[in-house]
Amino acid sequence: MISFSHAYKVFPNGYQGLRNVSFEIEKGEFVFLSGPSGAGKTTLFRLISGFDRPSSGEVNVLGTDVSSLTSSAIPYFRRRIGVIYQDFRLLRDRTVFENVAMPLMVRGDRHLAIERRVREVLEQVGLSFRLSNFPDEISGGEQQRVAIARALIHHPGVLVADEPTGNLDQDMSNEIFKLLEMVNAQGTTVFVATHDADLIRRKPYRVVRIHEGEVSA
Ligand SMILES: Nc1ncnc2c1ncn2[C@@H]1O[C@H](COP(=O)(O)OP(=O)(O)OP(=O)(O)O)[C@@H](O)[C@H]1O
Ligand SMILES: [Mg+2]
Repeated sequence: MISFSHAYKVFPNGYQGLRNVSFEIEKGEFVFLSGPSGAGKTTLFRLISGFDRPSSGEVNVLGTDVSSLTSSAIPYFRRRIGVIYQDFRLLRDRTVFENVAMPLMVRGDRHLAIERRVREVLEQVGLSFRLSNFPDEISGGEQQRVAIARALIHHPGVLVADEPTGNLDQDMSNEIFKLLEMVNAQGTTVFVATHDADLIRRKPYRVVRIHEGEVSA
């Protein structure tokens, strides 16, 4: 489902963001990615979601060899992945509804189907009442939930979540985590980066650890 084999990421300035990374995640697994700030969590997620390619080695996601994706194949590949970015990446000039609907609009779904699915997923994240607000009109936690709704809307085979509960209070964080677990129960493979040692301790999930670009599973 997700497999790294001797993957390296070397940045243009020569810095090795990932070094000889090898690990596997099975279909349907729920896995944490844990490591200190600067360890390479976001770098690793960018390879999984097809935003970047490894400098050497192999990265395979959903049966696709990410290292050899052609530019024209990348958008199709990304449609099968859900990404919750550390910094949300909402479009400021679009409403909550439009932000969440975006993956389906890009895919060319019919308007009525989009409307139904957006309402459903916004209900799941508790934001039905924010449909027509713009990102700047809602709180940080609400923005985070919009980002989560957008990542879930197209039923991705793989969901990578970069600190998805980082900006939320304990209750909201628990709610969002339950949502990720529900998505996982429905068959999506979920990979969650977090600094939250307490969360990792409380949950039964496998942990992939990363430190200075090196992974120990
Ligand atoms: N484009 C780049 N060029 C050079 N170095 C980079 C680049 N992007 C990231 N890095 C470096 O690679 C390392 C890993 O960065 P990354 O963003 O993956 O860390 P992270 O584990 O996500 O950290 P955080 O928990 O703070 O989000 C850091 O030392 C960072 O400074
Ligand atoms: Mg990061």
